[in-house]
Amino acid sequence: MPNNFKLAPSILSADFSNLQSALTICEKGGADWIHVDVMDNQFVPNLTIGPPVIKSLRPKTNKFIDVHMMVIEPEKLVEPFARAGADLITFHIEATNKPKEIIDLIKSTGKQVGISIKPSTPLSELELFYDQIDLVLVMSVEPGFGGQGYIPETTERIRSIKQRLTEECLQDQVLIEVDGGIKLHNAKIVLDAGADILVAGSEVFNAKDPIQIIKKFYKLAE
Ligand code: DX5
Ligand code: ZN
Repeated sequence: MPNNFKLAPSILSADFSNLQSALTICEKGGADWIHVDVMDNQFVPNLTIGPPVIKSLRPKTNKFIDVHMMVIEPEKLVEPFARAGADLITFHIEATNKPKEIIDLIKSTGKQVGISIKPSTPLSELELFYDQIDLVLVMSVEPGFGGQGYIPETTERIRSIKQRLTEECLQDQVLIEVDGGIKLHNAKIVLDAGADILVAGSEVFNAKDPIQIIKKFYKLAE
């Protein structure tokens, strides 16, 4: 179990006509992070949120805003998201052939840096960057939509990443965040494998009582 677990509810499954209510749910439930899924209809077949939405959310919450960019040419959006008030900016390793430049660009804005990896991308793609980033976002579904099932092979991938980070003495420096199909019933397995942060979209926002669900995630991680 991580000693500093955090839940990042994904507002992708919230009511987009009332994002204030999603923030209130996160506040009342005690979630630490807000996960924002940015999709460009090119890297993934869906179109969602851009910097203006982050800009509107920023003054309404002190929560850590975790921006997950599922976009091609991520370098073009780094500064707009940084200016809008993101705390952590994550890009996909599959979306660029210049990851080092994007890492440096994100750092130059003063924000934290994450790299995300799709379920079928070899973990070796991450190897060169572990010592330069704050977080690895491990996708446990194909990115693009909420409400999909957790891919069981992810558990072993989380273990491998944790092992590599530990070998490099980076386990306290680089967080592992897991995204896709996270439910109360599988959260413990994912945490035991080495996750520090869990993203949960449909489990939280499709629930009758989302606040209680958030609280239950934290109880489970105690
Ligand atoms: C999928 C997104 C996820 C999504 C998770 O591409 O990155 O963050 O919102 O939703 P659930 O928890 O419903 O799988
Ligand atoms: Zn996401």
